[in-house]
Amino acid sequence: MCEIQTKKQGYEHFMLKEIYEQPKAITDTIAGRVGANNELDLTGEIPKNMVKNLENIIFIGCGTAYHASLFGKHLLEEYTDIYVSVEFASEYPYKKVRTNERTLVIVISQSGETADTLSAMRAAAAKGGKILAITNVVGSTIAREADAVMYTHAGPEVAVASTKAYVCQLTCLCLLAAYIQEQNYGRFDQDMIKELKLIPEKINQTLAVYEGTLESYANRFRDAGDAFFLGRGLDYASAMEGQLKLKETTYIHGEALAGGELRHGPMALIEPDVLVVALATQPELVDKMVSVLKEAKTRGADILLLAMDKEKDYSEAADKVLLIPETHPLLAPMLTVVLMQTLAYYTAKVRGCDVDKPRNLVKSVTVE
Ligand code: AGP
Repeated sequence: MCEIQTKKQGYEHFMLKEIYEQPKAITDTIAGRVGANNELDLTGEIPKNMVKNLENIIFIGCGTAYHASLFGKHLLEEYTDIYVSVEFASEYPYKKVRTNERTLVIVISQSGETADTLSAMRAAAAKGGKILAITNVVGSTIAREADAVMYTHAGPEVAVASTKAYVCQLTCLCLLAAYIQEQNYGRFDQDMIKELKLIPEKINQTLAVYEGTLESYANRFRDAGDAFFLGRGLDYASAMEGQLKLKETTYIHGEALAGGELRHGPMALIEPDVLVVALATQPELVDKMVSVLKEAKTRGADILLLAMDKEKDYSEAADKVLLIPETHPLLAPMLTVVLMQTLAYYTAKVRGCDVDKPRNLVKSVTVE
């Protein structure tokens, strides 16, 4: 690991440094893969025949990589009619998930060394699946054993809580989903790719506007025991990543819920001052989220809402609203996650936690 890149460079913790490195990491991950006129150039890394005539696609990963997989599934379902599923790496070998020569298996791992992921990948390969790895570490075991590799260019990630590797995984998935769409249907969503190039600048804007707000908002979480993260559709995948970030860095119990499920049981847990982080960036789902949040608020929940549409009225749905810059709805998770990472960081700090090395955790889990 290059020494200069692993120093904190003035930041108090690696986690904050890595949060701030995200715009560059995304730019580096896009570089060389998208041309000036938004044309995709992935054929060198991923042979065309690997993504054509597919019966199904399976994502495999753990933790944050699993959450990135949920994002990937959503995009592929948007852009193709191929059946897509997501499996925990630790579960896949023990399930009878349909895998054959017409299955594309997308294995996601920052380290490329996670034992569960490696075992699942080998099990999928033994059934004939074509293995495409998305990893950050050149020459890692997963990279070496896969049929094809798409590298994230996040640079070394030191903090146990993954930040920049995650957004780079989302970046690769945007490019990959567009590529699979192009190879199968002869066209792809150019608007999304165009917007993807603007995400680094929008992350900078988001941090510039809201870092201070989140630093003070973290005080509300200082003595919390639980927090709920709510989202619908693509926002649900982001909510899952948000709760993991908070849980691993602050030891606060976090639970992610699909917003529509709140009324089917969990609403019983909503009482005065329960902390809720809600996401409502997906245009077709905003009104429904607002409706359920209003109900949670009348029951006393303390709601932080991350939204995108500035024309909507959120006054009865949240105590505090943070608006992300406008973008393609499928890319909104790349902005909301930065807010949730920053909230987790400042909460961990205010609670006196070991931010970069949370208790009981290691950066790469090499045992099953
Ligand atoms: C992320 O913040 C976690 N520390 C953890 O969930 C991690 O993403 C998981 O262990 C998978 O690691 P990998 O990406 O290196 O395979």
